[in-house]
Amino acid sequence: MLRRLHAEQPESFAFTSANQAWAEAQITKYPEGRQASAIIPLLWRAQEQEGWLSRPAIETVADMLGMAYIRALEVASFYFMFQLQPVGSVAHIQVCGTTSCMICGAEDLVAVCEDRIARRPHELSEDGKFSWEEVECLGACSNAPMAQIGKDYYEDLTAKRLREIIDELAKGNVPTPGPQNGRFASEPRHGLTSLTDIESGHTQFNASVQLANDINDTVKRIDGTELPLITPWRAKGSKDRAPVRDDLVGPSNNDKAPRGVGLTERRNVPGTVNAKGKPAPVAEVGTRPPSLETARAGAPDDLKRIKGVGPKLEELLYGLGFFHFDQIAAWTEKEVSWVDENLEGFRGRVSRDEWVAQAKALSEDE
Ligand code: FES
Repeated sequence: MLRRLHAEQPESFAFTSANQAWAEAQITKYPEGRQASAIIPLLWRAQEQEGWLSRPAIETVADMLGMAYIRALEVASFYFMFQLQPVGSVAHIQVCGTTSCMICGAEDLVAVCEDRIARRPHELSEDGKFSWEEVECLGACSNAPMAQIGKDYYEDLTAKRLREIIDELAKGNVPTPGPQNGRFASEPRHGLTSLTDIESGHTQFNASVQLANDINDTVKRIDGTELPLITPWRAKGSKDRAPVRDDLVGPSNNDKAPRGVGLTERRNVPGTVNAKGKPAPVAEVGTRPPSLETARAGAPDDLKRIKGVGPKLEELLYGLGFFHFDQIAAWTEKEVSWVDENLEGFRGRVSRDEWVAQAKALSEDE
């Protein structure tokens, strides 16, 4: 397919100040003279902000990276993850039309898009909410037929299910991505025939769907304010890095004063809960951080503002007595280890996503 700049272009492009800060931080990941390597994340963020890549957006990114405009355009026009024309305000649907998906019904999915969205690919639906196109293999062939909607994959689709998904999106909902026929991932339709013990450790969703659910930005525009814009690689070893608050170790660790106003010690809280709300054994790793019986003033913080925390993780944290950013900001390394071990279904998230540094930044903003 011919991929070229759209005939109608806006006058200018500018990142929001939050996205600008994020983009500048990305550039610092690369050694001097290699800044052009940041081209894909920066173009992607421009697209996340606007929905598509205009010529001014591509040129702005090229200027930031000291690249010739044609070099940036080469990248933007090569990958079909980049949209070079306006897309639906709610979602752009990319239906895979390659061999496995074609054999398994991609043509029926395309027919739904033609009927429900627009006759031709890249045309906007009448209400401006949707657009669609057929793309080449998206690498989910064992879950054919499938489509990418926003940032996520909807797999094992039928025409009926795709129509329902579009209807849901039109109402402002975001259907759960992943297999749409009840499969967990890409195991045989009627269950595992080998490695069957894996079943016992199943979480509700496979890792990719779980992450999509946690982040919950599948079809949203990103102006940068939704995400705490931390740049952990910048602060490594510097005083900018969130300090380990040994001075604030709570009563579960030693006899120093408990941290935080209104904090109630809860040393012997029974077992944690898993993602399905069932009790889970408390792992004997690290030290349990001090917790609260209830949120201070009955108003818990919106912990979903911590990148990587979705509604389920937030519920788990509340269930463990962690309601506020300042509680998380004060966790010591031992306490991080304890929480990492005890978030059933989400082990390791605290350190992986640097919650302490994020929570510190958020509590300072409050
Ligand atoms: S053929 Fe459709 S994902 Fe590979």
